[in-house]
Amino acid sequence: MKKMIGLAGSMKKHHSSSEYLLSVALEAAEEQGVETELLRLNDYNILPCEGCGNCMNGKPCHLLKKPEDQLTELYDKLKEADGFIFSSPVYALSLPAVWKNWIDRCEPCSAEDLDFEHYNYDRVAGVKGKAFKGKVAGQIVVAAGPGHEWALASLMPCFTAIKLSMIASAGISLIEYDGQPGIRKRSWSKPIEEAESAKMMARAVGLRVASALGFSYFDSPAEQGQVRWEQQQERAEQADDWSAFTVQNIRDEEVRLGALAEKQPRIFVIGDQQASSRCGPLLEQLEQQFGGQAACALIARVGQLPHFITHEFVKEKTGQAVPGFELYYDWEDALASRCSVAPGVPAILVGRTREEWQLFAVDGTQGREIGRVVDYLEEAIV
Ligand SMILES: Cc1cc2nc3c(=O)[nH]c(=O)nc-3n(C[C@H](O)[C@H](O)[C@H](O)COP(=O)(O)O)c2cc1C
Repeated sequence: MKKMIGLAGSMKKHHSSSEYLLSVALEAAEEQGVETELLRLNDYNILPCEGCGNCMNGKPCHLLKKPEDQLTELYDKLKEADGFIFSSPVYALSLPAVWKNWIDRCEPCSAEDLDFEHYNYDRVAGVKGKAFKGKVAGQIVVAAGPGHEWALASLMPCFTAIKLSMIASAGISLIEYDGQPGIRKRSWSKPIEEAESAKMMARAVGLRVASALGFSYFDSPAEQGQVRWEQQQERAEQADDWSAFTVQNIRDEEVRLGALAEKQPRIFVIGDQQASSRCGPLLEQLEQQFGGQAACALIARVGQLPHFITHEFVKEKTGQAVPGFELYYDWEDALASRCSVAPGVPAILVGRTREEWQLFAVDGTQGREIGRVVDYLEEAIV
């Protein structure tokens, strides 16, 4: 069963509107078969970052050793979840300080998170991903009047930096439902339980995040891809050439590049989505020059897809980009490191037998690169 944690950031002990709406969102998620738990950020004593820089030098945060610091307790809970909903009041057109205090401590928070050699934000985010990376989140922000729009945006870049996908946000002004004693005694005050439109928004956030648990822009399949790539690299190193690499054909069958090139020489254009407009003309040019001697095909580097984009959709689009050519897919982008070709830059891989494989990056100086392919092919194949 998937688990969702709701983290409430209200400073109030009672009558918190944002915490009430968080419980509505969690109830909606429970209806979808998700296990939920509500935590209060303010129940954890998180000492403020002192900027010592330990975490940037491969050492654990020294605050973790202080018995009064409860960041580890909070992380241990967050690690259990597949996704989160954060709720908060608006304070001074932003979020209360507890949020910023917490996010400032979102550097490596335990010795096990420190298995990196050099400080690098991505790497750090990757390691502490046990708590965040590859997970989804939603947020609910409640104001009395103006400011929910700024508050919603205020921590977004921080969440992105820790590779948490923020996929649903609801911001609302609810002055007549406000739990402050000064407002509750007014004649126009109403209980938050009657704020129907706000409850609908909270439910929508809960349902949306529940439906997306397990999917993320920074999803773990990328890491699985890394594992697969390492296996493939090992195989390739054993075979000492490209022929051991596998891709999938249009029918999702796994095929070895070597097997494809056994019968006839192959010219593969390798490209990702950004390079797709250059791949079609490149393939046509290669087909014109070498169609007689080698079969030209596309290997689409795919990698992480948003959860609403299916493999079928990608196949349809690649088919349209390079009509008439054979198509192969590297779904987890395992060839990326092998190619060492930047995103958006196509590459040409030419192969014949086990020993004769050559990779050419097609950068801005396309003519020169094609020239090298021509030279190689004339020598090796023609
Ligand atoms: C220190 C402080 C600053 C606030 N700043 C704003 C603000 O900038 N804009 C606003 O609309 N409401 C502001 N409010 C009102 C709260 O956003 C509002 O009471 C909210 O419903 C509280 O949510 P909670 O009940 O979950 O704590 C502020 C309240 C406090 C205590």
